[in-house]
Amino acid sequence: MATLKLTPYKNVLQGELEVPGDKSISHRAIIFGSLANGTTKISNFLNGEDCLRSIDAFRAMGVSIEQDATNVTICSAGKDKLTEPVEPIYFGNSGTTARLMLGVLAGLPFFTTAYGDPSLTVRPMDRVIKPIQQMGALTDGRSDGGFLPMAVRGGNLKSISYTLPVKSAQVKSAVLLAGLFAKGVTKVTEQTVTRNHTENMMAAFGAGVKVEGNTVYISNKPLYATDVFVPGDISSAAFPLAGAAIVPGSNITIKNVGLNNTRTGIIDALLNMGADITISNEKTVSGEPIGDLTITYKKLKGTVIEGDIIPKLIDELPIIALVATQAEGKTVIRDAGELRLKETDRIEAVAEGLRKLGANLETTKDGMIIHGTSQLTGGHVSSFDDHRIAMMLTIASLIADEEVIIDDISSVSISYPDFFKHLDTLKSTP
Ligand code: S3P
Repeated sequence: MATLKLTPYKNVLQGELEVPGDKSISHRAIIFGSLANGTTKISNFLNGEDCLRSIDAFRAMGVSIEQDATNVTICSAGKDKLTEPVEPIYFGNSGTTARLMLGVLAGLPFFTTAYGDPSLTVRPMDRVIKPIQQMGALTDGRSDGGFLPMAVRGGNLKSISYTLPVKSAQVKSAVLLAGLFAKGVTKVTEQTVTRNHTENMMAAFGAGVKVEGNTVYISNKPLYATDVFVPGDISSAAFPLAGAAIVPGSNITIKNVGLNNTRTGIIDALLNMGADITISNEKTVSGEPIGDLTITYKKLKGTVIEGDIIPKLIDELPIIALVATQAEGKTVIRDAGELRLKETDRIEAVAEGLRKLGANLETTKDGMIIHGTSQLTGGHVSSFDDHRIAMMLTIASLIADEEVIIDDISSVSISYPDFFKHLDTLKSTP
């Protein structure tokens, strides 16, 4: 256990920062680089625990992957040359590795077993298992087949037309990945747009992918290696961004952040709350828009966050809840029941942590109601071994009156290994 004691911080955040590579895009770069023929070079890869699990999974199937911190080189003979793993594959804490790899394993004509850490073991996999079984994959797993550990015998898939019952990019991606191996054209329709990095990257690797409104079509064609630059992760940028939004007098710039409009819900939500955010140096790199975000502290007001914006900020809701404690009036978050199925039940985890620090909020079935503003006190809080909760509580300590003690911060290495170092940089810039 890595306990952290944070003494009250009585100063502003200022300076410039570059956050690590995007987690979702890093996973997909490993997956498509491994399924493609040739050599793929990835730069600005997220060297975090979750993405390392995706590397391990393909190494176990015979792909050569060399990693030097944020640079990764993949040499693969293509998706039809992967080999049956001898040992069970360990997905760790990574829901993205698990869901997307189940889509890949469904297409591969061999037997695989997989397992995860205690958190991933209780997260639902049936949302992915149902469509891949319809395509012809044989699977079984714990608790009637819907949970890890799990076994998959894949291959010989047929295409399907699938309408997503949940707003999940992981499920969409799993079906599209299985579709790369299926006979015919697989069609996936979503009611609400979720992050589209899979579709973007499939196109970059030469796949037969077509997007029409909320429907994606994919056919079985070989993929060809291409180099990938991974933009900074807006979900990691969310933490310093929120810090500057709530610490009076702050002004920071975060450079080269991914600004794909399926991910920028946090910017829209903060703007609705009255934040002063500007975007500059916008460009497109490896098919993804990026830019620099500058935020200057300004008093905030409450807002309503609901409906189609939810998938665009689902991972940012814990930190947005903290910001809402410093916004005048009521902030209502609804339609976010998926938060209960993340690394932990993030509705309860956020509520418990913020309440212990003196915030005033209620939980609902699918969200929270936060009453601002509250002066945060201090206290002993739990991260629930969830990286985003640990980082949210650390940012909360910046405005707390007394010491904040977080029980365990080791999970931060999942998505933002340099988080504490980066935060110190913003604290110490003169
Ligand atoms: C992700 C999709 C989201 C998100 C997760 C990463 C992805 O999950 O919460 O952190 O990379 O596709 P869901 O698809 O379950 O909403």
